[in-house]
Order: sequence, then structure tokens, then C-alpha cells
Amino acid sequence: MAKIREEDIDDLRERADLVEVVSAYTPLKRSGGNTSKGLCPFHSEKTPSFTVDAAKGLWHCFGCGEGGNVYHFIQKVESLTFPEAVEWLARRFGVDLRYEESRPGEQRTAGIKARLLEANGEAARFWHDLLMSSPQAEPARAYLEARGFGSEVAERWQLGWAPGGNETCRHLLGRRFSVEEIVRADLGRKSERDGNLYDSFRGRIVFPTRTVQGDVAGFGGRALGDVQPKYLNTAETPVFAKSRLLFGLDRAKSAIARGVAVVVEGYTDVIALHEAGVINAVATNGVALGGSHLELLKKFTDRAVLMFDADEAGRAAADRGWGLDRSIGLEVLVAPLPAGRDPAEVVTEDGAESIAKFIEAAQPLVEFKLEQTVAKLPLDTPEARARAVREAVKVLGSQRDVIARHEYAFKVARRIGVDPEAVQRALGDEEAGGLGPDEEAGGRARDRRLPGNVKVEREALQLLLTKPRESAPWAGDVSERNFSSPVRRELFRHATGARADGAAPASAAVAERLSSEALGLYTELTVGDGGASADAQERMSQVFTRLKVFLLETEIKSRRNTLQEVNPVTDASRHDALFTELVGLEAERRDLLRGLQGGG
Ligand code: UTP
Ligand code: MN
Repeated sequence: MAKIREEDIDDLRERADLVEVVSAYTPLKRSGGNTSKGLCPFHSEKTPSFTVDAAKGLWHCFGCGEGGNVYHFIQKVESLTFPEAVEWLARRFGVDLRYEESRPGEQRTAGIKARLLEANGEAARFWHDLLMSSPQAEPARAYLEARGFGSEVAERWQLGWAPGGNETCRHLLGRRFSVEEIVRADLGRKSERDGNLYDSFRGRIVFPTRTVQGDVAGFGGRALGDVQPKYLNTAETPVFAKSRLLFGLDRAKSAIARGVAVVVEGYTDVIALHEAGVINAVATNGVALGGSHLELLKKFTDRAVLMFDADEAGRAAADRGWGLDRSIGLEVLVAPLPAGRDPAEVVTEDGAESIAKFIEAAQPLVEFKLEQTVAKLPLDTPEARARAVREAVKVLGSQRDVIARHEYAFKVARRIGVDPEAVQRALGDEEAGGLGPDEEAGGRARDRRLPGNVKVEREALQLLLTKPRESAPWAGDVSERNFSSPVRRELFRHATGARADGAAPASAAVAERLSSEALGLYTELTVGDGGASADAQERMSQVFTRLKVFLLETEIKSRRNTLQEVNPVTDASRHDALFTELVGLEAERRDLLRGLQGGG
């Protein structure tokens, strides 16, 4: 897609009134100054914590920690990519967008992709018509019928029948698709022997996989009878990236956006579940579920339930780097089915209610994995139990929510038969690496739990971002070193960068340049009046002084450590130098603290 002109993106951002846009999704009430509040559309809550700052063009939910500008809002609420959100708002506000001239290469790729999607669409239609009416397809129809997939089902999913010869390629050539296009879409392949073009799918029932937008991206073809392989899938093509597509997602997306995603293994599982009313089911295209699939689902929901056969679920949890869900922020649950049964079979034999029961009983992935880990270890001696605790703690480390982590620790202790204290202690050892990134997430309610230096760093950032003029005199001797997390350092760079440009550091435009990790903290600190108070000067002095004290204390600590390793006799001059430095730093710290007390 051609790039939208920056200028137009900036203009539209100004023009698209955030309060008006948000009000279409959740009613807002003025809550003083430039802010309005409403119930958050992104998580369920009873008291409004979703706050819109009309003056800055920013929003933040103090309940779930999400935030951004008008584009972020539309992206999230309509499940769109950034350019799609810009185009969506442009239509809404009647703005004509201009596009950058695309480079020839780009135009060519976009052109080819469109052609491959068209070729796929044509093949899907051709095969579907054959399945519905060709006498040759009778065995395929009978097979599908026997599996409970009658003609209405075939219609809804545009199932097809690929004939046994080279009819498909001939048909496509007749529709003016070139040999190159047919081969690149993997609808046909060239024989290595004679260079002839032949059909990729022969004598198979075909299941088209669509993109979220509904274009046919590729196919899975099931053999009739015992032909190998049982399923043949379209190879990777420019429009068929198996790691980024899910079968059924085009039909399941709105149900998923209203609840959870159910991930199953097969095409037939998805169809059987949907037809039985479980319309949030999706499957991969014959590849293992990976991080990109979960990222795709994360656009629609916060929760995915993996419904695999028990053995497969066990293998999946054991083999794969299931830390995956951690960085993506998708909660992954596991609903294992009895060994040897697949969802299609369960739903046909026991009905949709039984599927609902399995979903309800789904276990968090961590819990499932803990059980898998512990179940195969002996627990009969203190040494064995100690080992089990250590193994379990490794699994627990992938749980990013601190509170949940401690709750699991308790369960693990009971399961292994040790004192909960023992697990907590082992967990404590693992964690002793300082603060994780998650401490940044969440709303103000968490403030109280934050360590002192983190609170001060956040306050200092808030002042730098929202009161650039007033804080300028204090900011002079503050540097990135004063901030102890990457996210806070990123925000500091933006605050000082904007000041150098003479731009407002708290604005909808800046929000777009931040990393997704930093965005939530940015809006948390900037939406609203930033805790304005009468004695702003007093607050500045307190915050920036304490910020300096914290850095001094880290430096003092590290000098002390070094000093202990330096021999005062053999390395006297180095020892003296360090000692003098240390005394200086201590004095500096004392002065700062005295200033604080003196000041109030
Ligand atoms: P299954 O063997 O469970 O097939 O493989 P299924 O979908 O349940 O189909 P039926 O019910 O036997 O007709 C599950 C998935 O694994 C992939 C396909 O995506 C299939 O839907 N698979 C399986 C392949 O890609 N190739 C194969 O040869 C087999
Ligand atoms: Mn199956």
C-alpha cells in the first residue's frame, strides 16, 4: 500500500476530535478542566476510569493502563492497522488523503499480491462450483455429507473440489492469469522433467483460508481415502504466510472480539465448531501455533483457549517456547480434550454444551505447564521435592503478573507438599534481578506498591512532560542516567527532545513516535492536569532533589563495593582516590537531604 503523506496524517489528527470519536463508543462526562471520563471500552468496569484529555488529544484508562491518541483509539477499537485507522478516520471526517508516490518496486509488489489474491479467488470459485455440481465430485460430496458437512456448509465455507487433471491451470490461463502468476500463487507447479505446468491440487477437497479482510490467501486440500499426504497446503507465497494467517479468523473475528479465541488444530474442527454455534474457533494452516499467530489474535482479544487433544497439548506446552504469550500480553489457556478425540468429534457426538464445558474448565497455560512439569517428577524425598520446587519456579518465572505469580506459588507448594514459604523463597531468588517491565503497566492504583525511586522517576517525568517551562531550570542536570528503566529513559529522551524543538512534549503527535511499551506510561503521566498544585515550585524542588539523591545513592553503593576490593596497602593511591570520592558523594547527598528538610 502506498504511504499516506505525513502532513495529511498530522492534519487529520488535529481535525478528528477525540471526544467526538470516543463518544460514539462510550458516553463521556466532563470531569473538570479539559478532561472527560467514561467507562473503558477495552475492559469491563463499573466506575469510569477511561479519561480523555481534549486539550492534548490523548486518552488513558487508569483501570487497564491502555492509552494513546485518536489513531491508537480507532486502531484498537476497530481492530485496524495504523494506515487503516487513518483511512477510517479520513472517511469519517470527509478528508481526502494524499499518498506518497510509491517507488516502482513497491507498486510492483502490491500489484503482484493483488493478482495472486485474484487468482486464488478465481480458483476457489472454480473448485466450489465443481464441488456443488460436477458429477466427478460425487465421492467428495458424499464424504463431506457423511461428516455432517452438507451443501449449506459447503456454501458458507466455499469448500471446493479440485479435479484430478490439469483443469485448474487451464481454467486460470483461460481467465488471463499468466503462468508466472499461477506458479507464484502455488495453484500450479512446473514439472522439472518437461517444464509443463500441472495443477498443485489434484483430486482433493479444498478448504480456502482467507485473510482477515476476506480475500482467499491459500488452500488446504484433503485427500479422499488413504492418499498421502492427508492434507496438502498451499506453499508459502507472497500472500500466504502461514505464520500470520488463521483459518476461520475472517468469520470468527467479531465473536473473538466480544470474548475469547478458541484455537483448534484442524480445518474440519473449525467448521464443525462454527456450525454447532461455537463461532470463535480458528486453526493454523498445518503449522505449529507460534508467536505471530498469537499477535494476530491479540488484535481482537486478550484471551485465547487452546483446545487440543491432551497428548498434543502436553507436547505443545513442553516443546515450544511458550514464553510467547508473555511479551504479547495475551492470556493463553489450555483446554485439553480426552486423548485421541478432536473438537469436531466431541461437538458432533456430545454437542456444543460439552465444548462450552471444556472451555470453562480451561486452565491458564502456566498452571497447565506446572502440572505437566511436576507430574513427571518424583516427590517422595526432601531432595526430590526441592528439585521439583526448582523446576516449578523456572516455569513460574514466565508468568508476568506478580500477583498471579505468587498465587501460583501457593498452589505449587500444596501440589508438591512443601511449605509455601519454601516456594516463595525460591521464587524470590529467581526474581532478585530487580524490577521487571511489568511494573510500568497498570494504573495509578499501583503507585503505592512501587519502590520509592520508581515513584520519584515517574513524578519527575510527569513534570518534564506536562510542565516543560516550569521544570526547565531543574532539568539541566538531569540525564538518562537518572532513570532506571528503558521505558522511562525513552520518555525522558522525548521530553527533552521536544523541549529542544520548542514543541509541547505532551501531545497527540508525540504519542505516535513512542514504542508500544512506553505509550501506556506516557498517557498515564500526561492525561489530565498532571496533579497541578499551588506550590508547584515546592513540588519541583522535592522531586528533582530526590531524583538526584537516588542516583547519588547508587553511585555511593558502587564506590563502596569497589573500595572493598581494593587493597589499602598495596594499592594505596587508588584506595585514597576512591575514598575521597566517596566522602565527596556522601557530603553531596547530605547537603541535598538537608535542603529537602529545610525546604519543608
Ligand atoms: P488432522 O489429521 O487432525 O486432520 O490434522 P483434521 O483437520 O481433523 O481432518 P479430518 O477430520 O481428519 O478430515 C489437523 C490439521 O493438521 C494439518 C491440517 O491443517 C489439518 O487440518 N495437517 C494434517 C496437514 O497440514 N497435513 C497433513 O498431512 C495432516
Ligand atoms: Mn483431527
